[in-house]
Amino acid sequence: MSAMRLCSPLLVCLAAALFSGAVISSPHMWTKLVLTHHWPNTFCSMEHCHPNISYWTLHGLWPDQGIDCNNSWHFNSSQIEDLLPDMEKSWPDLRRPLSAGFWKYEWQKHGTCAAKAATLNTQHKYFSKALELYHKVDLTSILRKFDIIPSEKYYTFSQVEGVIENFYGIKPKIQCAHSSKNADVQILGQIEICFDSDFNLLDCEKHFIMNTVSKAGWDDDRAINKASGFMVCDHDMPVYYPPLP
Ligand SMILES: *[C@@H]1O[C@H](CO)[C@@H](O)[C@H](O)[C@H]1NC(C)=O
Ligand SMILES: *[C@@H]1O[C@H](CO)[C@@H](O)[C@H](O)[C@H]1NC(C)=O
Ligand SMILES: *[C@@H]1O[C@H](CO)[C@@H](O)[C@H](O)[C@H]1NC(C)=O
Repeated sequence: MSAMRLCSPLLVCLAAALFSGAVISSPHMWTKLVLTHHWPNTFCSMEHCHPNISYWTLHGLWPDQGIDCNNSWHFNSSQIEDLLPDMEKSWPDLRRPLSAGFWKYEWQKHGTCAAKAATLNTQHKYFSKALELYHKVDLTSILRKFDIIPSEKYYTFSQVEGVIENFYGIKPKIQCAHSSKNADVQILGQIEICFDSDFNLLDCEKHFIMNTVSKAGWDDDRAINKASGFMVCDHDMPVYYPPLP
């Protein structure tokens, strides 16, 4: 009997091979990190806070596999003491300024999963890498440099997406909120820039074969988006990039 025979139908065999391969190497290792930025003014219009910041701030650094990976690994701000001034500026809790609650939440939900990689396996490594990537991306300056500026005028979706794609050379995920006052306009809210496990830029839409086997990453993504009230922007609707009130 030939080996082919043992492995038929071919697709089942292929899936089994990939699946067992994944189990042998590392069961729940992530393959993509999502650096999520939000626009404080849009976030605060949904969350009833009072924005006084006119630059994109960090929402989080999310691996594509896992949520709450280690509930006994508690957030401890004294381990990131040297980072706190930058954290307060770049990763503020917009709802409760001066609180560490947002960082604690992000660490428990996402950081403990990112920490499966040796490069991110301490709180200091995780938060300092997020800040490093955030500064490297420097989204606010890049948008400004290419004339995407918070204002009362509207942009087309492809103007915003085009600047990001052309500059970084990858596809971002851009999310909008919907206006209660004007149903024909969407409000720029959240921009995700993705990285591979070596921290190289990556298309956010890139699917890895492992994800099509386990699906977990995409389901998690959707749950997060739903909870935050942002949706992937409509390609045909004008985009409002709101300035500070
Ligand atoms: C925004 O307001 C908070 C709380 O009032 C304050 O601590 C913070 O320094 C302000 N940020 C800026 C950029 O003005
Ligand atoms: C979870 O975190 C605790 C505290 O850092 C650590 O001792 C433990 O080994 C971790 N568990 C796993 C499964 O990584
Ligand atoms: C937090 O981290 C500091 C510095 O590493 C350590 O001394 C302290 O015991 C930790 N606190 C808790 C509650 O684990």
